[in-house]
This record gives sequence, C-alpha cells and structure tokens, in this order.
Amino acid sequence: MTRQKFVAGNWKMNGSLQANAALLQAICRALATDPPVCRVAVAVPAPYLAQARQLLEGSVVELGAQDVSRHEQGAYTGEVSAAMLGDFAVRHCLVGHSERRQYHGETDAVVAAKAQRLLAHGITPIVCVGETLAEREAAQTQAVVARQLGAVLDQVGADAERIIVAYEPVWAIGTGRTASPQEAQQVHAGVRAQLAAVSALAAQVPVLYGGSMNAGNAAELLAQPDIDGGLIGGAALKAPDFLKIISAARIQ
Ligand code: 13P
Repeated sequence: MTRQKFVAGNWKMNGSLQANAALLQAICRALATDPPVCRVAVAVPAPYLAQARQLLEGSVVELGAQDVSRHEQGAYTGEVSAAMLGDFAVRHCLVGHSERRQYHGETDAVVAAKAQRLLAHGITPIVCVGETLAEREAAQTQAVVARQLGAVLDQVGADAERIIVAYEPVWAIGTGRTASPQEAQQVHAGVRAQLAAVSALAAQVPVLYGGSMNAGNAAELLAQPDIDGGLIGGAALKAPDFLKIISAARIQ
C-alpha cells in the first residue's frame, strides 16, 4: 500500500493578519490551478485560526494548530482546549514539538495526555519526536525516539492508527543542518517498526520528517521509503518555497 504524502507547515510564532492573508492566498491560488497530489496543511498560531479558517475555505489546504491544553476546560489561564480547536474546524494539532519540550518543560507524559485529549475531540495529533545533538552523539537516537513515541502509544492504545508522527532531530531544527536522507530513513524505519508492533493499520500512519527541510533537499528526503512527508518551519513562511516542497512530494 502506498501512503499518500503529507506536507505541513509549522508557522511557529510568526505571522500577522496581513502576512497570513498574503501567504495563504498565494498558496491557495497556486494549488487551485495545480492541485497537489499530497495532503497539505498549515499549523497556525491560535489567534489566527479564525482568519486562516476563512482564508482556507474551499481550498485543499487543511487547518492545523500548534499546541493544545492537556485539560478539558476550566481554570487554566492562557491555555487553549481541544474543544476550542474543534470549534474552528482544526483537523490536526502538533504535540510535543521540541520547542515545547525544551522551553516549556513538556514531558512525555504531558505530550501523551495532549495527544489523547485531541483524539477525544476528533483532531489528529501530530506527535513530534526527536533527539538532541548530545543524545545523537551518545548513540541514543533510537532509544530517545522510541521512548517519546512509546509514551504516546501506551496512552492512546488502539487509537495509534489515528495519529501522525513527525521525526524532528532537534539539531536540525532552524539550523540549516538537515539529517541526511539515510540518517532520517534509519530513524523512520525504527518508528515504523514501533508502530507496526501496535497494529497493521498503525504501521500505515504518516511519518513526517522535519528539520531544515527546504525546496532544495525535499525531493531526496521524500524519496525515502519511510518518509511520508514533511513538517516545515522556516520554508513554510514563503509561498514559493512551500509550494516547491509540495511539488517535490508529487514526483515520488
Ligand atoms: P525548520 O524547518 O525551520 O528547521 O523547522 C522545523 C520544525 O521545527 C517544524 O516543526
């Protein structure tokens, strides 16, 4: 079975009403005349969900969010619940991005709880996993990734087949230093095996690569057998670059 590729942009804390409109209009216009063969999504900052939802109406581009509260509702100032994301027709939400783990102290348990909360609201968690440079140098890559993914799989049980995984080596994020296609493939194969141990359907969930993926290196990464797409940071903020990555997913 060939898995459909999936290209998602993670805008992180970037954008403005004006910039978002220009970016999404350019992407939607291009994809309307030249429809993608892959799925395309953007994960926008929470305040712009309403705007993005409106701009994406009638487009193939799917709406995503970047984070969610692990709590259902209540006295959690500043948090955004899965139900609120659902109100804006959000289809996917990142959990466990390394910037959340690193700067906001999110543990594997917190990430797993967030994934479960999203699933309960019919939103697909894009579970981010990845090792730091120190962990890679200590030959801990597979162990770290397996631990991070394992925490989520243990929590969600049979719903594992409803998640998306993104392997993002921390040392490759925003650094211009990409994992080589072979390095990435090796980790992706490990992720695939871990998913396959849950069920045959879980083995088919998309496993995306993220970390300095750009218009120049996307095709080679996407050609790897276990790389099902990309989670794009910086290059997702420029319509021509993002569109080139989407095109690269076409020629596999
Ligand atoms: P860059 O593409 O900017 O390296 O960011 C990757 C990322 O963190 C996507 O979630």
